[in-house]
Amino acid sequence: MNYFTGKHAAITGAGSGIGRALAQQLNNAGCHLHLSDIDRDGLADTVNSFTNTDATAYSTIVDVSDAGAVARWAQAVNEVTPTLHLLVNNAGVDLMASVVDTTLDDFHWLMNINFWGVVHGCQSFIPALEKAERSHLVNISSVFGLIAVPHQSAYNAAKFAVRGFSESLRQELDLQGSPVKLCCVHPGGIDTNIARRARNVDPNATPESQQEMFAQHVRTSAEDAARKILRAAEKGQRRLLIGSDARVVDWIVRLFPTAYARLFRKATESALTDTRSDPLSDEQPSSS
Ligand SMILES: NC(=O)c1ccc[n+]([C@@H]2O[C@H](COP(=O)([O-])OP(=O)(O)OC[C@H]3O[C@@H](n4cnc5c(N)ncnc54)[C@H](O)[C@@H]3O)[C@@H](O)[C@H]2O)c1
Repeated sequence: MNYFTGKHAAITGAGSGIGRALAQQLNNAGCHLHLSDIDRDGLADTVNSFTNTDATAYSTIVDVSDAGAVARWAQAVNEVTPTLHLLVNNAGVDLMASVVDTTLDDFHWLMNINFWGVVHGCQSFIPALEKAERSHLVNISSVFGLIAVPHQSAYNAAKFAVRGFSESLRQELDLQGSPVKLCCVHPGGIDTNIARRARNVDPNATPESQQEMFAQHVRTSAEDAARKILRAAEKGQRRLLIGSDARVVDWIVRLFPTAYARLFRKATESALTDTRSDPLSDEQPSSS
């Protein structure tokens, strides 16, 4: 008997990567699932991969950037079960571009999914989570919600925002004596499709070249990440760092809150696909 057996969980972005691995492990555990994604085929593949037919699985096409669509999905879930035990705000995208090369449309696209998607999920589902005796809200930020790197300004902004939003919301929930335990997750590099699907202003970048570059920095499988997320949720953990890369980054940022950029310079340079500008080249040595 697993902690999640017989419970109800909702996951956004369940058609790939971490979301799919979470769904598979929860299905194995006998958890009833309410899954969403904008990728119809990806979502169908997730559901088709399930082996436990005793647990129900509903899937819905939902764009998390659309507040109305998320609210309608929550209403549909509510008609199946008024009580929800786990929500994972997982859907996310990436964008690689310098600040000057990022169009406002691209900034809005990323913020609408990676930040507003989390807000929409929380607002729509907290009432159902509060009906449980004990429930879990998991917001996926990133190691890039702990440090900033060049050419990820939109992603950094959204993931820092998810962290700030989550820490504020958690205090509200605690003050109200809410049964909802909130965990903010900061994964390091996880082996998923995120880089393949990322928007990139570099005309020479292809989905394959992006994925190849990303693969050099990946430390953890999606399955391992999902296992750690579910264990952290069950324990009521407030923050989760996934991977040795995330733990090292967390310490380095604490020790060198401004000078960390120089320490990560080599890794950053190799990760940049756009070599037209070198944002760190003029940096003077500074103390932390
Ligand atoms: N892979 C990593 O290294 C890594 C590291 C840190 C954080 N994360 C975060 O983990 C989460 C999951 O990403 P992943 O790595 O599994 O990537 P992924 O690309 O494999 O999966 C993301 C899923 O989100 C879905 N999605 C995208 N836009 C959506 C929208 N508007 N509405 C609904 N669904 C949408 C995609 O269709 C996809 O199925 C993201 O929030 C990502 O930022 C990933």
